Amino acid sequence: MSKVTGLGYLGATVTDPESWHQLLCTLYGLERRGDSPDGMHQYRLDEQHHRLTLYEGAEDKLAHVGWEVDTREDLRMMAAHLSENGIEVEAGEPALCEERAVMEMIICNAPDGVRTEIFFGPKQDAMPFTPAHGMDGYNTGDLGLGHIVLASDDPDTTVKWYREMLGFSLSDYIFWDDIEATFLHCNPRHHSLAFTNPIGPLKGGDLNHLMLESKSMDDVGRGYDIALANNVPLAMTLGRHTNDLTTSFYVYTPSGWWIEYGYGGALIDDATWEPKFYNAPKLWGHEMQPPPE
Ligand SMILES: [Fe+2]
Repeated sequence: MSKVTGLGYLGATVTDPESWHQLLCTLYGLERRGDSPDGMHQYRLDEQHHRLTLYEGAEDKLAHVGWEVDTREDLRMMAAHLSENGIEVEAGEPALCEERAVMEMIICNAPDGVRTEIFFGPKQDAMPFTPAHGMDGYNTGDLGLGHIVLASDDPDTTVKWYREMLGFSLSDYIFWDDIEATFLHCNPRHHSLAFTNPIGPLKGGDLNHLMLESKSMDDVGRGYDIALANNVPLAMTLGRHTNDLTTSFYVYTPSGWWIEYGYGGALIDDATWEPKFYNAPKLWGHEMQPPPE
């Protein structure tokens, strides 16, 4: 069975693209693609053409999640594996591959109705990433874009699906208060994906947060300064996680879901890794803040 090897890209519909643009450029230094198609805003943060796509829309919602596989052969094996398990698989048309800037892709519906795109061959840009402000940059490459945390109406079944269909492995669990979170990896990054039970307004399939990992603690610290100086609403103050040991802070995006900006995430060696259980998400900090008005 072939496996996905990293979080490739993410797409979301947004009601306030201008505020999003301010956030992504001012705080995270992302580069807006000048060649984005109409009604679409693609953002770059490393050597790939883009990894984030925002669609102007009537609601704020996760649109798609892209998972990478290493080869065209792996993509074909993945398509066959999904089909054999009764999952409808659609081949991505050339125009969509062009839009996503990948060689080839398939599309399926994951649990909780998450539009899942599996691709190989992300388009590299010949020109270097030009961040909107000076920075050390993002820790992507073989570790992928970062991680996402989604709510699921049935986390146990959903986790089983991702392990058996896409080849994820269990990292660990954190259960605290009334939240139960399961963390999964598909490369050495401690987790590329995690699921929680529905929390607050989040229903199954809703995005809780996207994590971007910096190459330096200084970028995260400077980002914290920028967030404070620009009144970007914090969702959680600077803190450190128990399980992946990332030092990070979280902000509310204009869509309500969060972005975590972190540094120093643990890496997993599957040869020796034993899944663990934690009863708290933080070693220190990470104080929850109320949503903005
Ligand atoms: Fe996170």
